[in-house]
Amino acid sequence: MQRQIFDDYESPSSAAADLVLETVSQNPGAVLCFATGNTPVGTYRLLIEKAHARQADFSQCFCFGLDEWVGVPPEKSGTCHQILHEQLFKPLGVRGTQVHLFDGMTDDISAECRRMNEMIRQKGGIDLMLVGIGLNGHIGFNEPGCSPELEAHDQELHESTLASGQHYFNEPTPIAKGLTLGLAQVRAARTVLLLANGAGKASIIQKALEGPVTPEVPASHLQQHKGALVMMDKAAAAQLT
Ligand code: GLP
Repeated sequence: MQRQIFDDYESPSSAAADLVLETVSQNPGAVLCFATGNTPVGTYRLLIEKAHARQADFSQCFCFGLDEWVGVPPEKSGTCHQILHEQLFKPLGVRGTQVHLFDGMTDDISAECRRMNEMIRQKGGIDLMLVGIGLNGHIGFNEPGCSPELEAHDQELHESTLASGQHYFNEPTPIAKGLTLGLAQVRAARTVLLLANGAGKASIIQKALEGPVTPEVPASHLQQHKGALVMMDKAAAAQLT
């Protein structure tokens, strides 16, 4: 696992955008996976700006979504579906046929997870996965205690995840569960880019990067991933030794 510490929020966002562009420029058919949340907002904004300026071609890549809220209609503002399409895919010119996201409205969660797992296999695995970290160390919706061997699955969400999750919606939205790629798929991605910013993440970043590798801190599994790269600002890195 490599780590890079930057002075402010803009710099890791810019470096992360450059890594996505470089991945697609070296391999136009790259398989990408994107998280939502507040952390990657700057990355996506800069990625779009840079992609337009460099006339980058995203027409051959394939994109997966990392996770989704169960039971929230996809078009509702705040879902991973809505955010990724509006903040990223549409501005980049990525077509619907190049995207596979969880259907949070499915009435058959096992079939939905199988569909996701099969699609990832069919695409030959994920080349670059961009993730954030939850305050309790989750990646996607892999909450503390999740087996590192799991593929796509549904997950009862912890109080802290539900509380921060509510902020993504513009009105009170009933949420309780998530659908997520599993840690097996995070660990299998050829490159995993973990982004973190702000003092609020300092304690969990220290545990994830320097504490024991344990299911209690799902992001700690990245310590054993040779292709893991953590880009963070000084505030998030403040408790690292
Ligand atoms: C959310 C999402 C994750 C996200 C994380 C951090 O619950 N399920 O995919 O990376 O928590 O969110 P934020 O970037 O808003 O801190």
